[in-house]
Amino acid sequence: MLTLELTDQTGAVTQAEWQAAAAEAAPVLARAQAGEERYADSLGWLDPTLWGGQDWAGRAAALAQQLRGFADTFVVIGVGGSNNAARTVVEALDLPGGMRIVWAGNTLSPHAMNRMLAQLEGRSPVIDCIAKNFETLEPGASFRVLRRWLTDRYGKQEAARRILCTGTPGSSLEKLAKEQGYTFLPFPEPIGGRFTALSPVHLVPMAAAGADVAALCRGAEKMAAALRRLPAAENPALQYAALRYLLWQKGYRAELLSCFEPRMKGLFKWWEQLFAESEGKDGRGLLPVTGEFSEQLHSLGQFIQDGTHILFETFLNVKEQQASLSLAPDGVEDGFGYLDDKDFEDLNRAAFAATRTAHSATLPCVTLTIDRVDEENLGGLFYFFQFACYLSAELLGVNPFDQPGVEAYKGWMFRALGKPGA
Ligand code: PA5
Repeated sequence: MLTLELTDQTGAVTQAEWQAAAAEAAPVLARAQAGEERYADSLGWLDPTLWGGQDWAGRAAALAQQLRGFADTFVVIGVGGSNNAARTVVEALDLPGGMRIVWAGNTLSPHAMNRMLAQLEGRSPVIDCIAKNFETLEPGASFRVLRRWLTDRYGKQEAARRILCTGTPGSSLEKLAKEQGYTFLPFPEPIGGRFTALSPVHLVPMAAAGADVAALCRGAEKMAAALRRLPAAENPALQYAALRYLLWQKGYRAELLSCFEPRMKGLFKWWEQLFAESEGKDGRGLLPVTGEFSEQLHSLGQFIQDGTHILFETFLNVKEQQASLSLAPDGVEDGFGYLDDKDFEDLNRAAFAATRTAHSATLPCVTLTIDRVDEENLGGLFYFFQFACYLSAELLGVNPFDQPGVEAYKGWMFRALGKPGA
């Protein structure tokens, strides 16, 4: 089970205040654990065995194995919640033997599209168009280009074998897939995009990349069993949500999630979307920002330490060392003799400890520790953040599951492009 630890030399928040805030939030936890009727059409993720259990993990793994029989590259056409969770896993793990994953459908830049197409030269690709309602512009436009690319190269019949569509049953994407003979996969109706990490939407590309999706689902199931049972005083998701709300009440306006493992940058994008779209409404919410350390200590670090006091920081800490690299001397006097008996892991740990000491002098810091970076822990982390985000939005008094701001910009864009009925 992951742990949370507060380090705050500023006195902005005390352990006692934090515990009192968590106790006060206990009724919100009880409602979420039960599953609220008013959000019934968005809570398909709450029980991760429904759309992300061992049955779906097995189906995703079997489909991936079948695809690997004739293809070596898997193109994910999807944006936001139809992209970020699979990307988290692919960027975090070393997955020898899996298909190469190419990301598409997340940009309108012709330069980026051409660069993506160039990556397919000399490869044998399959594509998966992931779009809940098949109205979003980026995946819709990219799917058209990639369909044509496949048909030009392979002909209509072989192209159809190489095309998957993941959409809501009954959607126009399902109709198109059936008409054209493409494989159709269900996008769960009662789950919004950013909460679909543990569903076929992401399990299929993760399995294609070679990830152990059964372990990922197992991690999520274990986390769900704990978070849906533990009382407020012992529940890390409630503790995290209560602390975020307490700090928001005290005037903090942004949360910085930072980590000394660059492999977590996919998770950063996923986490930013989850919290920004779920909480940022009605003039409320914490701006989610991320720090890729130690690199960004040399850019963002100055502001974090010394700039306008709007931030608190959550360090994502990984307990178990999974790699080593010795700094044994090479006989050259380089002025770094104090590193002679050290490993890179010692440096990374020292940088984390030093950064937390320095930052906690001017902003509240919380450390969220996971055991290691693997499928099981990532599955647990997806569920942890989803459940905590639900609680956190409830405490703020906003609907966690809609995104009216996103819909507003889409409307303006569709009108600009002359979409009928927009
Ligand atoms: O969380 C959400 O619902 C959104 O961010 C969607 O994931 C995103 O807009 C993509 O939507 P769609 O899958 O319908 O193309």
